[in-house]
Formats: sequence, structure tokens, C-alpha cells
Amino acid sequence: MQRIKYTLLLFIILMACKKREYNSCSDDIGLYKLAKYPIGYAIDYSNLINDVNYSKLASEQFNSVTAENAFKAEYLAPAEGFYDFREADSIVVFAKRNNQRVHGHTLIWHQQIPNWIKEFNGTSNDWELLYKIYIQTVVLHFKDKVAAWDVVNEAVNEDGTLRSSIWKEKIGNTYIEKAFKYVQEVDNNVLLFYNDYNLESNTTKRNAVIQLLNNLKLKGIKVNGIGMQMHVSIVSPEMSQIATAIKQVTDNHYQLHLSELDVSVNPNSNDILLTNNLANKQASLLAGIVQLYNQIETKYQYGITFWGITDRYSWIRSYYNRIDFPLLYDDNYLPKPAYCAVKNHL
Ligand code: XIL
Repeated sequence: MQRIKYTLLLFIILMACKKREYNSCSDDIGLYKLAKYPIGYAIDYSNLINDVNYSKLASEQFNSVTAENAFKAEYLAPAEGFYDFREADSIVVFAKRNNQRVHGHTLIWHQQIPNWIKEFNGTSNDWELLYKIYIQTVVLHFKDKVAAWDVVNEAVNEDGTLRSSIWKEKIGNTYIEKAFKYVQEVDNNVLLFYNDYNLESNTTKRNAVIQLLNNLKLKGIKVNGIGMQMHVSIVSPEMSQIATAIKQVTDNHYQLHLSELDVSVNPNSNDILLTNNLANKQASLLAGIVQLYNQIETKYQYGITFWGITDRYSWIRSYYNRIDFPLLYDDNYLPKPAYCAVKNHL
């Protein structure tokens, strides 16, 4: 009897030691069930098929999904004249099975373009055809399957000028308006978004984007919404900057997608652990963002999408080669204070 008691005590002490520094909360009820607008995540195909912990959270917590990579040209059009929709289609099937809206990301971007396009040799007419055929083939393939497209991603520089990219070079400055037009030509129902980063913090860039899109609308081209990526950190931007950005987008009658939300706790690339203090700072920033988003008129609330589920697979770690903890779940799939804050404010 005494031995059982000691073993039990030892077990309790061990469990207490294992307990995280920060507090957690229950994730029994999916986030989307608490929200008045869609709650999304970026999905990675290989994690979906290889990691049941990941697919479980994906199916239980969210009702909107964006492919982290699988809908990009590099994946959809790996060789000239050849499309590969297998991964993207599997994601669509998973989404449908779990009643999740699919957000198409992204048709035209200066990155993740396949080599055959980068090396394509043709007249300006050939380029026009390539451009139109790529856009319309992809849009037609996903017709009635995706709710919206990020038609163009990251086309504007920090100083408000048009970024140089292969598309600008080959199609010309009108490549953005052409992309929106080509999508609408083959799918009149799908919503059309422009997506970019730093829109919450850089007024010059945001003004330029809004002006560019307003000009398209004046020409009769449909533009439904703006994706503010929201790769933010606990250091910046200020909540007031985010509030101003949100107001400007909705005042200009665009639906607003917080499209790639994550909150870095280590923007200066230090050697860190996720302390209680950092986890709570991250949580309070997210609480503030959710509260701001709640105040938007319903017709502009396209939804909030997190750029991943667990810190374990966050793109920030590999892309910027630094340790970071930007998402709602920790490396062991436990909800962080960030999750609790979102949950409590939805
Ligand atoms: C990122 C993915 O998360 C990474 O896996 C990939 O290696 C690079 O792209 N802005 C975007 C997203 O619009 O498509 C990017 O996604 C992150 C920045």
C-alpha cells in the first residue's frame, strides 16, 4: 500500500514538472464553432497525410482552409503543358469532408513559379497566351470548389511602386488587371482578392494597394476583397496601426481577410525558449486583433486564417531559419495561451 502511495506521489511530481510554464485551456470545442465568421488555417499536404495529430486539429478546429503551397504555380503546373492537381484536389476533398471553405492561394505571384515558366522563350503574344491559359485552366478546375482566389499576391513594394516580377516584365504593367479580368471571364461567382504583407503597418504601401484596386474597380473590374497577411510580431505593429488599416480597407468597401496570421515572438532571431512572458504577450496581441476584427461590419468579415496550426511546422522556422513559436498550438499539439486568447474573444 505504502509503495503504491509513493509511486503515485512520484507520478504526480513528474507530471507537475512536465507541466508547461504557461497556462493552457481546453480545445474541446472547435474555434470555428465559437466564431461569427470563418476561422481558417494554412494546410500542408504532407503533414495532412503523415501526421494524425495534425489532421485531427485541422478537422476539428477550423471551417476554412488555404493551401500553404499546393495551389501555387510551382505545384499546379510543374512542366510545360502538364498540370498536376493531385495534392490540391486531395486538400479540396479533405475540406469538403470537414465542411471547410477553400480559399484559393494564389494565382499570380512573383515566387514559387515553375522553372519552365521562368525559362519560357516566346513572343509577347505567346506570353499573353501562357498567362491567360494558366489562370483560366486553374480557375476552371476549381470552379465551385473554391470560394475565393488570391488573384494577385504581393505585387506592390514597400514604397508603393509596382514590384518587378516576371509577370510585370512579360505581360506589362496591366498584368494585375488582366489577371482579375481573366478569372472573372471564366468564373463569375468566385470572390476575387488581392493579398499582401505589411499592409497593417505600412501606410504608403496600403494606400498604393487601395488606390490600385480602386482604379481597377473604376474600370469595371471586379475586386471583392483584400487579404492582409498579418505576419506580425509581439514587437510590432501597434494595435492602433492595425485598427487604422482595418478601417481603411472596410471604408473602401473591401471584404477583409486576415489571411496568413501568425505572431512571431522572436523577430530578432535570438536563441530563445517560449517563456510564460512571451506566450502571454503573443496571446494579448491576438486577443486585440480578434476584438478589432469582431467590430467590422459582417459583410466585410471574410474571416481570419492562421498560417498553420502548430509551431512545430511553422514556415517561419524554415524560411527565416530561426527558432520561433508563432502559432496557436505548441510543438506537442497543446493549445497555447494564444489559442485561449482567440477562443475567449471570438
Ligand atoms: C510560404 C509557405 O508557408 C512556405 O512553406 C513556402 O516555402 C514559402 O511560402 N506569403 C505568402 C505565402 O503569400 O504563400 C507564403 O507561404 C508566406 C508569405
